[in-house]
Amino acid sequence: MSDKKIVGVDVGASGIKGAVVNIETGELLTERFKLPTPKPATPQAMAGTFAELIKILDWNGPIGCGFPAIIKKGIAHSAANIDKSWIGTNVEEMFTNACGCPVKALNDADAAGLAEMSFGKGKGVDGIVLLITIGSGLGSALFVNGRLVPNSELGHIYLKGEEKVAEFKASSAAKKREDISYEIWGKRLNDYLEHLDRIFSPDRVILGGGISRKFEKYSSYLTTNVDIVPADLRNNAGSIGAALYAAHPVF
Ligand code: BGC
Repeated sequence: MSDKKIVGVDVGASGIKGAVVNIETGELLTERFKLPTPKPATPQAMAGTFAELIKILDWNGPIGCGFPAIIKKGIAHSAANIDKSWIGTNVEEMFTNACGCPVKALNDADAAGLAEMSFGKGKGVDGIVLLITIGSGLGSALFVNGRLVPNSELGHIYLKGEEKVAEFKASSAAKKREDISYEIWGKRLNDYLEHLDRIFSPDRVILGGGISRKFEKYSSYLTTNVDIVPADLRNNAGSIGAALYAAHPVF
């Protein structure tokens, strides 16, 4: 087994996806397998699904894991779209014990950001780059001159007049839950991005998550002055970045 190969797993609130990644090129060396996230998404249940995925990949080696929560030293400090019993749980220990391979974990959006900065639309971009992943929640990765500021959680800011955090209105889950058009949803996303612009003046904003593939359906509603681009690595960014992190767990 070459040490250029690491399994990257993107643990999400709706699916757990993984593939073997070449960490030098960012290429997936296998098909990306996906299993549904168990409901309720408790530590025990999710660890079982994680182990099943590693078995499908027939893997015995290091694993990187993007996880949808604030992660510090392997421990989850939030649980917005998964079972609350994750809070205080050591994600790395839980998954390592379940699958028998060493697992390193970081926030899922941070993982996607690392991948885009290395192989995608963030490559070579100086200044402030924000990656926003749009899915069950809104995740964020903040980079300053190529360095990640981990656990930024910008999906959890409050927009003016709103009682709930931004992800409640502007995630793909919100679009689906409320069954609204790309126009209505795109304008909401624009309000959110305008707000981020006022706070950070980013040099580039990269939109990730499944809906980034449909960028042309809502890009005309994104009228803010920021340079906004859809992620290059689309829905694979989380797995690729998780594998990169396992190779260099720098924070
Ligand atoms: C969580 C973040 C996560 C994002 C995307 C949010 O609800 O708080 O930690 O990155 O969803 O999964």
